[in-house]
Amino acid sequence: MTRAAITAVGHYLPEDRLTNEDLERMVDTNDEWIRTRTGISERRILWDNDKATSYMAIKAANELLDKRGIGAEEIDVILVATVTPDMLFPATACLVQAGIGATRAWGFDISAACSGFLFALNTGARFVESGQHQKVMVIGADKMSSIIDYTDRNTCVLFGDGAAAVLLEPAPDGYGLIDSVLKCDGNNWEALRMLGGGSLNPPTHETIDQRMHYIYQEGRTVFKVAVQGMADVAAEVMQRNGLTGDDIRYLVPHQANERIIGATARRMGITMEKVMLNISRYGNTTAATIPLCLHDWERQLHRGDNLVLAAFGGGFTWGATYLKWAYDGADVAAEAEAEMATEA
Ligand code: ACO
Repeated sequence: MTRAAITAVGHYLPEDRLTNEDLERMVDTNDEWIRTRTGISERRILWDNDKATSYMAIKAANELLDKRGIGAEEIDVILVATVTPDMLFPATACLVQAGIGATRAWGFDISAACSGFLFALNTGARFVESGQHQKVMVIGADKMSSIIDYTDRNTCVLFGDGAAAVLLEPAPDGYGLIDSVLKCDGNNWEALRMLGGGSLNPPTHETIDQRMHYIYQEGRTVFKVAVQGMADVAAEVMQRNGLTGDDIRYLVPHQANERIIGATARRMGITMEKVMLNISRYGNTTAATIPLCLHDWERQLHRGDNLVLAAFGGGFTWGATYLKWAYDGADVAAEAEAEMATEA
């Protein structure tokens, strides 16, 4: 069977930083509380009101095309995982298609909160595995600051903005996405939600007065299910594929809370040196966390490395994917550096 492999990664992070010290001046919180409860020190924010999720997604997509050395017209499909689309419709994927000039592509958005990238990655992989498409771009992008209430200390300390993209192509034998466990359960949907703006509560003066256009989270409820859920699926995908902690090069976890990530690593039997962790710098960027990790660790990744990607998010949605990395990241970085030196 043809498998799908990640063959390139691109990213975009806004320049502006919102630090814990900044937040201390905005709500009743403190650096120590935020760091010990979540692991976050700062996040990036796209304050510019004229720029939305598609702006970051297009930047990430263009970096990906540059690094892979291909034109946008070669892309067959664009999938954008996001809960902060520019608008309810058209899909952000259409704006990215036009923005990068992907003249042959079709695409759509996927809404699965913090599991969005994992769900989109698996959807994209099926297009490649079926033989229908050769180049599928999967983007995780969220402008969380657009749905955050910066007077609510329960949520405003947690989230940041960002985007990252991967390319899926047919994998060389034995590489690529091998197995996944993906789940959703809507019974507890109220624990993590944004009530306003959809067909249930279209925008009115009342929905605005009741702050229904902001994210709401019952932190403790979500924490309990997330710790259990993310660890369960990571362990299940390992067990199904006969993997032990020694076989795993990296856990690539959704970055919601360092304590949830630590629990998953323990359950997998791996030490924290094998965990991609950048939550301290970016916070929770929802659909962008996992591909942002792949970007930050790309140089350290070698062809044949076993990775487990794991996520938990609103819905609830959760899942884990086992893949065998298909290229030497250091080569890509060296090529990019050489190109920059030539251009300079
Ligand atoms: N600063 C100081 N105190 C705070 C803050 C803050 N920023 N926020 C909350 N507190 C207070 C609370 O009010 C509470 O006070 P009380 O006891 O007087 O009521 C106290 O701190 C403890 O609150 P808890 O909710 O018990 O704190 P907890 O240790 O659970 O940490 C957190 C909160 C970080 C939100 C945690 O519950 C968590 O990470 N939950 C899961 C997040 C997650 O995984 N989300 C899924 C992905 S997101 C998505 O899908 C879009």
